Amino acid sequence: MNTNGQPWTDDVGDLIQAHGGMILHHGNTYYWYGENKGVDNYRNAEGVNMVPFIGISCYTSPDLLTWHHAGIVLSEATDPTNTLTKESICERPKVLYDAERGRFVMWCHYDTPDYKYAGNLVAIADNPTGLFQVQRVLRPNGKESRDMTVYQDGEHTYLIHSSDMNKTLYFSEMTPDLTDCTGFNAKAFVDQEREAPTVFHDGDWYYTITSGCTGWKPNPALFSRSHFLFSNQKLIDNPCVGSRARTTYDGQPTYVLPVNGQYYLMLDHWQRFDLKHSGYSILPIEIHGRDLEIPWTDTPFGGPIQ
Ligand code: DGJ
Repeated sequence: MNTNGQPWTDDVGDLIQAHGGMILHHGNTYYWYGENKGVDNYRNAEGVNMVPFIGISCYTSPDLLTWHHAGIVLSEATDPTNTLTKESICERPKVLYDAERGRFVMWCHYDTPDYKYAGNLVAIADNPTGLFQVQRVLRPNGKESRDMTVYQDGEHTYLIHSSDMNKTLYFSEMTPDLTDCTGFNAKAFVDQEREAPTVFHDGDWYYTITSGCTGWKPNPALFSRSHFLFSNQKLIDNPCVGSRARTTYDGQPTYVLPVNGQYYLMLDHWQRFDLKHSGYSILPIEIHGRDLEIPWTDTPFGGPIQ
């Protein structure tokens, strides 16, 4: 049984390597995509303490409790553009299903080893377990993109990305084929330095939960809400409670997962000098009126999933 805040293991007892990830529900299966950081840290030529790029892993589960490693679904080996190298930064993968074209589209934060390129990598697969072929690397509408997520709002899909040296969060509309941006974007949280964005919708409200901007070190999460996805978003409060609220329980958001009408916040618990042992949490989000509260639970999902 996995415990929140700790490294998790898969169905054969190996460490789950799915950091900065997300879970996609497709058919009868849950697909957990994340960064495979399963080797030792080293200091790269830029002096950045990191792990070499191994790839993006996918784990499958019928019940969100047991996870089977379906393999590395994006790596140097599936990159005809030769963009990805061992020194590449490829973080926070998020996968969308394009029902019209019957294919899966992955967006990642793509960067050079010094984190100065600040763009995205887009890759496509016919099956959820890949392999994902790199299509392109881009800066959305010419803007920087570091921490990011994706969000489908009816017929419109958005890339939500920290930009302008992490000062601003942009909502950039994607093209209908989900592989590029249309040119439309909106700014939120100008000069607020929010990263690790997550987005969900409940009732009349769109919510975001973001972290502050302190590298791998934890800081207080904040939620915002608005009747509109990308305007009037106001930072409200830290949804975490108790003595570890100020460090988001030593974690950082990566995705909000809806399951049967209940929302769950996925956290990474980064071990910055030993990234492969970074832990995970999946915590139920309580909605009280218009406000969010996310109490700590040792048990993933807070107990049996309803
Ligand atoms: C914080 C981000 O949220 C992580 O994804 C990663 O990019 C680290 N910064 C790198 O310092």
